[in-house]
Amino acid sequence: MKTLDELYQELERRNKIAEEAGGADRVAKQHESGKKTARERIVELLDPGTFNEFDKFVTHRNTDFGMAENKIAGDGVVTGYGKIDGRLVYVYAYDFTVFGGTLSRANADKIIKLQQLAIKMGAPILGLNDSGGARIQEGVQSLAGYAEIFHNNVKSSGVIPQITCIMGPCAGGAVYSPALTDFIVMVKDSSYMFVTGPDVIKAVTHEEVTKDELGGAVTHNAKSGVAHFIAENDEQALMLIRELMSFLPVNNMEEPPVVPTTDDITREDESLQTLIPADPNRPYDIKDLITTVVDDKNFLEVQPLYAKNIVIGFARMAGHSVGIVANQPAHLAGVLDIDASVKAARFIRFCDAFNIPLVTFVDVPGFLPGVNQESNGIIKHGAKLLYAYSEATVPKIALITRKAYGGAYCVMSSKQVGADVNFAYPMAEIAVMGPEGAVNILYRSKINDEESRQGLIDEYREKFANPYRAAELGYVDEVIYPRQTRYKIIQALEMTRSKSLLNPPRKHGNIVL
Ligand code: HXC
Repeated sequence: MKTLDELYQELERRNKIAEEAGGADRVAKQHESGKKTARERIVELLDPGTFNEFDKFVTHRNTDFGMAENKIAGDGVVTGYGKIDGRLVYVYAYDFTVFGGTLSRANADKIIKLQQLAIKMGAPILGLNDSGGARIQEGVQSLAGYAEIFHNNVKSSGVIPQITCIMGPCAGGAVYSPALTDFIVMVKDSSYMFVTGPDVIKAVTHEEVTKDELGGAVTHNAKSGVAHFIAENDEQALMLIRELMSFLPVNNMEEPPVVPTTDDITREDESLQTLIPADPNRPYDIKDLITTVVDDKNFLEVQPLYAKNIVIGFARMAGHSVGIVANQPAHLAGVLDIDASVKAARFIRFCDAFNIPLVTFVDVPGFLPGVNQESNGIIKHGAKLLYAYSEATVPKIALITRKAYGGAYCVMSSKQVGADVNFAYPMAEIAVMGPEGAVNILYRSKINDEESRQGLIDEYREKFANPYRAAELGYVDEVIYPRQTRYKIIQALEMTRSKSLLNPPRKHGNIVL
């Protein structure tokens, strides 16, 4: 019989072996490439001393390809739970030093166990990816493991926040678990995601492309819209996750945390009185308005490099989380196109699922005209945004700062798609279209000189391109002075805090995909 000391030594020995992971050489290689190891990443992500590891001694069960003798405790993924700002989270990190962090059936089971716990306990799940994908030696067992992870991603969607950080390779079907989660953070220069890599692409389509061009952090943040955040390195990526988490509730039945602020809720800001240029065609930066009105100028922009004509992100007002959606006049005049519609729609649905009120700033000349937009389906993609706003039952506050033209007026959180409070600035222009376009259509054959054309434009602007028609009809609740924006929105948010609205019972809606 073993002595107690021997039993403790045995545990210590096993723990040490597991923590050595793929061995000193592979750990050194990981560090040389600027990456932290799986356990280092988890420790950095969580509150100090809160990580509890599960399944540290799990090994794969494969006997093919000489794998029976080739086992490493933990088997390529480190899983467990801990805390972020004192709140429970589940976390898994692929360990690239162990079989390239590839997915065996055994480590799929480790992740699945965590996903099931996260749903049961109602806590977020955070995945740190750095993996060669499906473990080739395991064949269909690995694929089955992925499929089950995907299935759990879908079951968790809208129930608990799911965040993925790509910190190394993520290729093949493995990309679909991150894609199913709510937010993807990618680390610059060391991470990439693609369904098929450069070699396969070269063989099939003869296109030559580097890994980074094809699926690097910049590509997915600026071009494809697959990712939501870009980080310079591992440390920054992990800090970003903590910051993002601070705006979110732990599950869909909870409210986001309230963060007390010393920023006066009644604070007026005179600079806003002149932010919107008198000339309706001159751009301004909507982010100046956002940062001026939210608590402590703190705005966490989501997808800042993608579809810049719409700005989305999280902030707090009077300490409460809000999701901000804003047309950006400084980019493409804030027009709504396919990418902007899809970007904002997904964000709105996230906020709605997780009880985060929506604050919308409207300055939109309409949907982008063009053969390219039409043939690529602006109708169905624009409908996504309309669907998302209409379906959302969280408090919805909108402020029309300048233009709200055509279909874009309807879409952008109008009262008629269920907004609770609509404000407008005195310089707002709410009409079917802009004065120039309207006069051209109405009087095309009747005007023959520039002077009378300008007269008609002025007349139209006077009559329609202002907020007072909408205010007379009750479509705008209040025309406000820009300097009052912060307090007005905060009061509207307070007034709507008890909102309790449910859509009619149904299995699920059929959003226009
Ligand atoms: C088994 C793998 C592996 C894999 C890497 N390794 N990928 N083992 N199955 N898929 C092992 C290597 O043999 C090596 O083992 C260790 O991991 C590190 O790999 P290296 O190649 O030495 O590292 P590096 O040079 O950094 O290259 C990393 C890599 C490359 C770019 C990820 O290994 C690679 O291209 N792997 C294949 C990626 C891939 O095509 N995966 C399948 C995708 S399809 P040793 O013992 O030498 O350290 C997929 C389907 C999912 O995942 C389907 C879901 C529906």
